Amino acid sequence: MLIIFILKGAVVMVFPKKPYSKEEIIDRLEEYARLDADPYSGKLFTIAFESGSEELRELLHRAFTMYMDKNILDITEFRSAIKLEKDIIDIAKSLMNADEEAVGTFTFGGTESVFLAVKAARDTFFIKKGFQIPEIVMPVTGHPCYDKAAEYMGLKVVRVPVDPETLEGNPDAIKEAVTDNTAMLVGSVPNWPFGTLDPIKEFAEIAEEKQVWFHVDACVGGFVLPFLKQLGEPIPDFDFTIPGVSSISMDPHKYAYSSIGASIILFRKSFNKMLSQYVNLRWPGYPIVNPGVLSSRSAGSIAATWAALHYQGEPGYLDLARKLIKARNLVLDGLKKLHFNIMGSPRSPVVAFSSEEVDIFQLSDEMLNKGWFLLPQRGIREMEIPRSVHLTVTPIHEQSSGQFITDLKQAKEAVSKAPPSEIGEMAKGFGMIMGLTAGEMDYEALRQIMNKLEGYIEGYGPELLKAFGLEDGLPQEMAMLNELFDALPPEIMELLVNYVVIEIYRKGL
Ligand SMILES: Cc1ncc(COP(=O)(O)O)c(C=O)c1O
Repeated sequence: MLIIFILKGAVVMVFPKKPYSKEEIIDRLEEYARLDADPYSGKLFTIAFESGSEELRELLHRAFTMYMDKNILDITEFRSAIKLEKDIIDIAKSLMNADEEAVGTFTFGGTESVFLAVKAARDTFFIKKGFQIPEIVMPVTGHPCYDKAAEYMGLKVVRVPVDPETLEGNPDAIKEAVTDNTAMLVGSVPNWPFGTLDPIKEFAEIAEEKQVWFHVDACVGGFVLPFLKQLGEPIPDFDFTIPGVSSISMDPHKYAYSSIGASIILFRKSFNKMLSQYVNLRWPGYPIVNPGVLSSRSAGSIAATWAALHYQGEPGYLDLARKLIKARNLVLDGLKKLHFNIMGSPRSPVVAFSSEEVDIFQLSDEMLNKGWFLLPQRGIREMEIPRSVHLTVTPIHEQSSGQFITDLKQAKEAVSKAPPSEIGEMAKGFGMIMGLTAGEMDYEALRQIMNKLEGYIEGYGPELLKAFGLEDGLPQEMAMLNELFDALPPEIMELLVNYVVIEIYRKGL
């Protein structure tokens, strides 16, 4: 039995004095899992990349468990992992038209791949120019993992406006933003928010001219765009055939449908990879050689990725790509019939839509009530990017997209009949009380807030949670939070979310 303390209203479990039986463990795991969305339901348009193939799923589970106890921290003990990784990297290289000299690393997520590319680009910059703060230049639609890498590794990110019509990166604006401090240029194929493709060839020309590292973020597209292209979809080149491309990230745990924890970073030259690895012989212990950010890593995901790539092969991925095109086109047709605005011209399986008729945040909540998981996005007013809803279309949606559109029609009707939401005005009012409006924040103001933050949190944290109805965790309906995100400066919202998430984890809510 567990000993349970009640502390400030939260349940705290201490180390079990008596072990659970196997049955109790499984019961408890199943009970916890009941709270989760079902990744195989076809109702998630968010972060579940589901092939819809039960056979593939079973194979991945088997491959994963066969290798999960092998720690690839020490490459001399489990050499199979080197072979598996070489095969995976070779497949990725062939998809990206890399030559013999190119090398790669298997990582556990797109963020980790990006970290390695950023480290190599930063060190290349330091070698060339000495120590000064290097910058990453990218379209505003670039993934926040670049900001995260920059924060961890001491770089600065310069986000550049995209073309407001196409939502693709604008080469002229990028060119203007590249300076002597630029260490890295990034283009995404596609970007996450809208699924549009940055013009990689044009970006590569700028990178070559200015002699800066150019990273192609194909985390989402790397394992799907080549197959869409083979099927005749209009996908421009974005790989190593383009001179000027230094590195490419691509994630098997997205459109290669592998287990979660699978990404690849490819470098055009092996010296580039040298700058991404970490080696340490300065302590009295074993030699540390880390190709990735993490040190101890299970080989489970590597085995599962090897299994996914070989089980599907080219025919399997082409087949899934056909399903994707069908599902995406069904979704797009439905959205157009319901008079939603499609963001840009979708060429990847990721699409987004906005609306002038209904509140998109309320629509998303209404769909959640019907069991559909969508990703509402705040847009950027100053850059004329409206609020929208992101949809990650996957092969499983070939089955469910008809029902999705039917439910969306009903949800739209319900939201347009509902009284206008006062949440937005409330959120803005809250901002005014705090003397803040969206987008108005400089480093000095932020520094002053950070200086007093610990005291604020101690004094007002619990009341703040209560005021926003967050003391019991995230609400089922997210419209209010989304409105808040839009009404206050992102720096302030980041602090609030940061604090709230700690409380959610503390309480296990
Ligand atoms: C374009 C892009 N790059 C990088 C990432 C980061 O990938 P991960 O979540 O696997 O770390 C994502 C995640 O969605 C992405 O969409």
